[in-house]
Amino acid sequence: MRRPLIAGNWKMHKNIREASEYIRELNELPWDDSVEVAVIPPFTCLFAFREARSRSRIRYGAQNMFWAREGAFTGEISPLMLLDLGCEYVLIGHSERRQIMGESDRMINDKLRLALETGLFPILCVGETLEERENGNAKEVVGEQVRQGLQGVIPHPGVVIAYEPVWAIGTGVNATASDAQEMIHFVRDIAKKEWGSQVSDQLRILYGGSVKPANIGEFMSQDDIDGALVGGASLDPKVFADIINFRST
Ligand code: PGA
Repeated sequence: MRRPLIAGNWKMHKNIREASEYIRELNELPWDDSVEVAVIPPFTCLFAFREARSRSRIRYGAQNMFWAREGAFTGEISPLMLLDLGCEYVLIGHSERRQIMGESDRMINDKLRLALETGLFPILCVGETLEERENGNAKEVVGEQVRQGLQGVIPHPGVVIAYEPVWAIGTGVNATASDAQEMIHFVRDIAKKEWGSQVSDQLRILYGGSVKPANIGEFMSQDDIDGALVGGASLDPKVFADIINFRST
């Protein structure tokens, strides 16, 4: 059985005070412990999560990392620094980084391998653009992103993959649950070919893109969808808790 993972990606939102208040508020809300909850705040808020760690049930991680442990890389963050802050997860290859910052599959693969080597769980983000979907290339694009992202990676059940169609991110237009299931099943099949079914059966594959309390239940009822990567709807702890409690909403 794969434990559901609901992860909130704050992107470039919230300051330290807001992060501390959020941690307190979310921890005060009831949630089902069978669900794993993680928040992915900006780097500047990570220390607030570390400080609260002993009294918090929220796991956390970073939105990006560099592909080297240390060195002359001005402005970059090492995975070792993230571990020092108590991070467990790191997003790798979010579509905003691929599109706005020009991250390539090669960079993403380098980051993913180093994340695992140092002991972080990578959340590899993949997804097609609207144009690619309309041209009928969605599976080809996503398949290539998964294969290249995992290239040379020793099979590891702790890798998380997030399928996030670019056209669904921040738009309010989510993929249908059955389309998401179809793509996520396809992604699991690729992992199976690369890594064998023993590992691919354990991999958690999330859906992301305009997830909200009203649609999470439908996504979670699909066989291959193991959780969600939530952007906008994770910013308010009450709304995020409604997503976490998908079994009762
Ligand atoms: P959204 O973002 O939930 O605001 O669509 C998802 C993401 O980018 O991870």
